Amino acid sequence: MLKKISVHDIKENIFELIGERWGVVAVKSNDEKNAMTISWGLFGYIWNKPGVEIFIHPYRYTHKLLENSEYFTINFFSAEYKDKVMYFGTVSGEDENKIEKSGLSTIELENYNTFCFEEAKLVLICKKLYMDTFKKDLFLYKEDYMEDEELGILHKFYIGEIVEVLSRE
Ligand SMILES: Cc1cc2nc3c(=O)[nH]c(=O)nc-3n(C[C@H](O)[C@H](O)[C@H](O)COP(=O)(O)O)c2cc1C
Repeated sequence: MLKKISVHDIKENIFELIGERWGVVAVKSNDEKNAMTISWGLFGYIWNKPGVEIFIHPYRYTHKLLENSEYFTINFFSAEYKDKVMYFGTVSGEDENKIEKSGLSTIELENYNTFCFEEAKLVLICKKLYMDTFKKDLFLYKEDYMEDEELGILHKFYIGEIVEVLSRE
C-alpha cells in the first residue's frame, strides 16, 4: 500500500531510480489520461521548495496533456515491472490506451486532479511551476544539442514542485 512520506525520507538513490530503473510520468487533462517513460530528470530544491525538472519532447502525446494539466506524477517501479515501464516508453498513447493495456491499476488523486499507479514503489506528486523549450543558440556544447534534438525539435522542460511523496511500505 502506498503511504505518504516526507521528501526527506526517500531511501532510494535518485540517480539509480531515474537513470537505471526509469520513471513513468502520469498525466491527466480533462478526462484523458496517459503515461510515458522518462530517463531524464533532475531532483532537488528550487525557489525554496522540493522540486523536479523533467524533459518532455513536444512530439509526445504526454506533452499535449501536460500543457493543460496543473499536476503530474512521477512513478517509480521495482525491477519486476521493467517490461511495463519499457512499454510506456515505446508505444504512444495516441495509438493505444497504454494504461489499460499495461494491466496496471491507477489511483485517483482527487486533491490534485491527477493519478498514479497502485503498483509503483515511489510516487512523486508534482505541481507544474515553470516550463520552457531549449533554444539551439544557448547550448554550449554541440554534443548536448545533438542529444536533445529529435527531428529538428528540442525538448521542453517542466519544473515542478514536489507537493507529496507516496511510498510502498
Ligand atoms: C527508457 C526510456 C526513457 C525515455 N525518456 C524520455 C524522456 O526523458 N523524455 C522524453 O521526451 N521521452 C523519453 N522517452 C521516449 C518516450 O517515453 C516515448 O516516446 C513514448 O512512447 C511517448 O509516449 P506518448 O506519446 O504516449 O507520450 C524515453 C523512452 C524510453 C524507453
